[in-house]
Amino acid sequence: MGRLIVVSNRVAMPDQTFTGGLASAMDAALHERGGLWFGWSGKISGHHARHRQRQDGIDYVTVDLARTDYENYYAGFANRTLWPLLHFRLGLIDYQREHLDGYLRVNALFASHIAELLEPDDTVWVHDYHLIPLGAMLRERRVGNRIGFFLHTPLPPAAALIALPRHRELFEALAQYDLVGVHTERDRRALEDYFINEVGAVAEPGGVLRLPDGRRFRAGVFPISIDTAEVVRAARCAEQLDEIVQLRHSLDHRALIIGVDRLDYSKGLRQRFEAYGHLLDTRPALHRKVSLLQIAPPSRSAVPEYRQIRRELERTAGHLNGLYAAPDWVPIRYVNQSYPHAVLTGFYRVARVGLVTPLRDGMNLVAKEYVASQDPDDPGVLVLSRFAGAAQELTEALLVNPADTAEVADALARALGMSLRERCERWRAMMDVLERHDITAWRNAFLGELRQPPP
Ligand code: UDP
Ligand code: G6P
Repeated sequence: MGRLIVVSNRVAMPDQTFTGGLASAMDAALHERGGLWFGWSGKISGHHARHRQRQDGIDYVTVDLARTDYENYYAGFANRTLWPLLHFRLGLIDYQREHLDGYLRVNALFASHIAELLEPDDTVWVHDYHLIPLGAMLRERRVGNRIGFFLHTPLPPAAALIALPRHRELFEALAQYDLVGVHTERDRRALEDYFINEVGAVAEPGGVLRLPDGRRFRAGVFPISIDTAEVVRAARCAEQLDEIVQLRHSLDHRALIIGVDRLDYSKGLRQRFEAYGHLLDTRPALHRKVSLLQIAPPSRSAVPEYRQIRRELERTAGHLNGLYAAPDWVPIRYVNQSYPHAVLTGFYRVARVGLVTPLRDGMNLVAKEYVASQDPDDPGVLVLSRFAGAAQELTEALLVNPADTAEVADALARALGMSLRERCERWRAMMDVLERHDITAWRNAFLGELRQPPP
C-alpha cells in the first residue's frame, strides 16, 4: 500500500497548539498511519519557500505564501467568500475577482508541488474549501493517483450555492476527484441536487454521479470523529494539571458551563451569551451558583468580519458581567486564548454543561470531545445546536435552536437540574456512538471507499 498524502491549507506542525477541527482530526489520523502532510506553512514570505520536516513517521512539507496570495486566497476568497457561503450567510459574502484569481493561483502552486512529490501508488486526500479545484489541477498535471476530497464545512442547498459568481467553474471541479466526502446526509443531498440541477448530472446507484461528458465520481457521507480512547485517557490524567486544579478551586462548588470555539461568527457566540443572560434574568436562584467559561481563541483576525465579532462579544460579555457580577462572582469568564487538547479535556470534565450552539457547523468536534471527557460516574450534559453536524449522531444531547434564546436558557436550566440517572443514560448513549465511530473508523471508511475501483 502506498503512502497517504494529506493536503490541507492548515497543517498542525508537531508541538504546536492549533485550533480547528480539521487539524485536530488529521493530526490523529496521520499519527496512526504515517504519511505526508502538505500545506501552507502559516508564514508569509516573498519567495514561496518550501520547508520539510520529519517527525514520528510523518513528513511535513509546507510552503510560504506571498502577502498578496495570503490576502487574496486565504483572507479573501477562502474566508470572505466561501466560508460565509458555505455557512448559509449569503449577506456576508464578499466577492472580488482578484480574490478568486489568487485562490486559483495558490491551488495551482500547491498542485505543482504535490505533483512533484507524488509516487505512483500514493493516495491523495485533499481537505476543505480552500482547495476545491486542487484535484482538477492535479489531473491537468497528469496525476492518475486516487484523489479524494473531504469538505469539513456544511454545504448549503443549490439555491444558495448559485449565489457565487462563476460557481460552476468551481464546484464542477469536484467531479475530478474519485470520491467527495461530506459530514451529513443533508450535505450530500445538497451536493447531489447541485450536480443534477446545475451541471446536468445523473445520480446512479452507490452515490455515483455521472456528468454529461461521461465522467463519474462518488459522493458519500463520512461524519468525522475524535480519537475517543485518547480523549478519555487525557481527560482522566488532566485532573492533576495545575490549570484544572486552579479552575476547580476558583469555582468554589459553583456549576460550570463551558463553551470552546474559535472566535467565529458561525459559532453563535453572541446568541449564546444572550441565552445565558436570559437564564440569569429569569432564574435569580442561579445567581452566584453558576459560571460560564467561554474559551474563544481569536481566528482569522485579518478578516474584518472576525474583528467585528470580537468587538461585539467583548461588549456583550462586558454588559452581562456589568449587570450581574458581584465582588465574589463573575458570571462569564471570557478567555481569548487557545489551550492544548490535554488541558481542554480537563476543563470539559470539570464542566457540568457543555454548551455548543453554532448557527451552522460542519460537524463540531468540541461537542464530541466534551462527551468523551466526562467522568462516567458523574457525567455532564451536552446542550447542542440542531445545526451542528454532530446533532445527527449525538441525539441524546439537549438539542436546541441557537437563535431561540429562551429555548437555550430552558435547556441550560434543565441540564443544570438533571438527575444523575438521566445524565448517565444520555451520556452512555452518546458514548456508545463515539466508541463505535472514532477517528480511525472515519479514516478507514473514507480511505476504504476511495480505494474501491473507479465507478
Ligand atoms: N481547540 C484547541 N484549543 C482551543 C480551542 C479549540 O485545541 O483553545 C480544538 C478543539 O479541541 C477541537 C478543534 O479545535 O478539536 C475545534 O474543532 P471544531 O470542529 O469544534 O470547530 P472548528 O474550529 O473546526 O470550526
Ligand atoms: C475550520 C475549517 C478548517 C480550518 C479551521 C481553523 O475547522 O474547516 O479548514 O483549518 O477552521 O481555521 P484557520 O483559518 O485558522 O485554518
